[in-house]
Amino acid sequence: MRRARSGVGRRAVLEGGIGLGLGLCLAPSLVIGQSDAASMLPKEGDLLVKADDSSLRPLTPDDVPLNAAPTSAWAMDPADKTVRRASRLNALLLLRFPPSRLTARSQSRAADGVVAYTAICTHSGCEVSDWIADQETLSCPCHDSLFDPKDDARVVDGPAPRMLPALPLKLVDGKLVVGGPFTSRVGFERI
Ligand code: FES
Repeated sequence: MRRARSGVGRRAVLEGGIGLGLGLCLAPSLVIGQSDAASMLPKEGDLLVKADDSSLRPLTPDDVPLNAAPTSAWAMDPADKTVRRASRLNALLLLRFPPSRLTARSQSRAADGVVAYTAICTHSGCEVSDWIADQETLSCPCHDSLFDPKDDARVVDGPAPRMLPALPLKLVDGKLVVGGPFTSRVGFERI
């Protein structure tokens, strides 16, 4: 059965996945020259900005649609406004749900119902870019892995070997702020 999807095109995603596959399979915190601030993984205290927002306005929970497709975002150093977008491994997905609909573990990492995950699929590194609205699942267009964002982005279906790493969030002065490092290694499995 084919599911109704929303998201970016498959080719763009594949191109990104191929690029990532060229020796950039894994992302422990030190891969691909992460010495510069724009390539560093998100850090505690970072603000979040929409991926396509040149004004760099820090996001609040209300900026993330409720029960809807994810918002693409980057972390931003609050001091000098460096957006950590030099590595696609830092691409983030933000989603918002009523807190009561999140599992306890997801609630513990959420800020006002907003949860954050890596956009990099744990299977082969494509970008998880599709949203299956009637199932409220994230979907990877490369091999159809499905992830449940209300339950720690656990794998619901498909070949992905593990959940999407989560990025803990907190609320500071009404803004979404990174509360700690990713819960596990960002990247995919070497085959
Ligand atoms: S790369 Fe995502 S399911 Fe294969």
